[in-house]
Amino acid sequence: METMFPLPTLLLPCLSILSCIIATPIPTPSTNLANTRDIYQFPNKGTWVENLAVRFNGQIIITRLDVPQIFQVNPFTPGQPPTLIAEFPGYLGTIGIAEVSPEIFAVAVGNYSVATRSNTPKSYAVWKVDMRSFNGQPGSAKTSKITDIPEAILLNGVTLLDGWDATVLVADSGLGVVYRVDTKAGTYEIVQDDATMKATGLGVNGLRVRNGNFFFTNGGKNTFTKVPINRDGTAAGAYQTIVTNTVGSFDDFALDILGDAFAAQGGGGNQIVKISRGGVETEVAGNINSTAIAGPTSARFGRTLRDLTTLYVTTNGGLTGPVDGTIVEGGKIVAVDVPIL
Ligand SMILES: *[C@@H]1O[C@H](CO)[C@@H](O)[C@H](O)[C@H]1NC(C)=O
Ligand SMILES: *[C@@H]1O[C@H](CO)[C@@H](O)[C@H](O)[C@H]1NC(C)=O
Repeated sequence: METMFPLPTLLLPCLSILSCIIATPIPTPSTNLANTRDIYQFPNKGTWVENLAVRFNGQIIITRLDVPQIFQVNPFTPGQPPTLIAEFPGYLGTIGIAEVSPEIFAVAVGNYSVATRSNTPKSYAVWKVDMRSFNGQPGSAKTSKITDIPEAILLNGVTLLDGWDATVLVADSGLGVVYRVDTKAGTYEIVQDDATMKATGLGVNGLRVRNGNFFFTNGGKNTFTKVPINRDGTAAGAYQTIVTNTVGSFDDFALDILGDAFAAQGGGGNQIVKISRGGVETEVAGNINSTAIAGPTSARFGRTLRDLTTLYVTTNGGLTGPVDGTIVEGGKIVAVDVPIL
């Protein structure tokens, strides 16, 4: 294992599950949690569904940390096995994903081994997937490398910065920085480098841009932070940590139409929590003791009239924090019916 950090700490803030659970104050169970519905669960343990993007037609693209593949999931036909979209030979897994321009997606890929829980710094790159040619057959979507990011330790979340410029922001959880990647020119540079992104374990993880503000989670510090940004992705004001989480470890999150955040509590949290624009954190779905959302990794709202208030959540089945300390299941895609308004 080649690393700058002690790897178990870097990769698994809750490697020792007991220490994690014992250190964690148990929240008061909420009485009005949202319903959850499984869309599809992979049968095997060790399946780590890492992130997702929703296409204009409502179909969901999922990434997998345990294989270098992305799949399409139909949220309207629960139980139907996902369709393979593309493979990325030479990498172990796919991570963050975001739509850059209509039907064109940027995907972070690299070598984090789920099997051995070890990471290979300098193995990361950002690829492009063009879904305009996708006809349901593997390989029909065109893929091409946008750029290697050789100094990256562990790429994680990806989000659109500017659709006109086709730029995305990409989190490096190992270095605790954020890159702006120009998906057309194939260039990149660090635009965010702040203490709020660093951690002993995984730092900056999920990220989103909305109305000139940049929001991100830090998994190791378990914080949700906001900063105003310039059009080039650099900070235009002070970093403001809105919430410090007490359960599990913050992973990726979605913003609803109003700007409230819905964050995955990974690392044994097994919940989705809402962080309101006013900074109030409430439980939305799942439970620390339940497999309903075992090991949530990311979340996105639907894009069709049918599912605008449905939050789709990806999971790793509890690999980073088994439910009740013992239960690990196959990763899945879960729908959470969120009463937004
Ligand atoms: C990443 O893993 C793949 C598959 O094992 C391997 O072919 C490749 O050389 C690795 N890349 C690096 C930079 O270690
Ligand atoms: C989870 O289970 C533990 C052990 O049975 C229990 O003490 C705790 O109250 C439960 N927490 C919730 C939120 O249900």
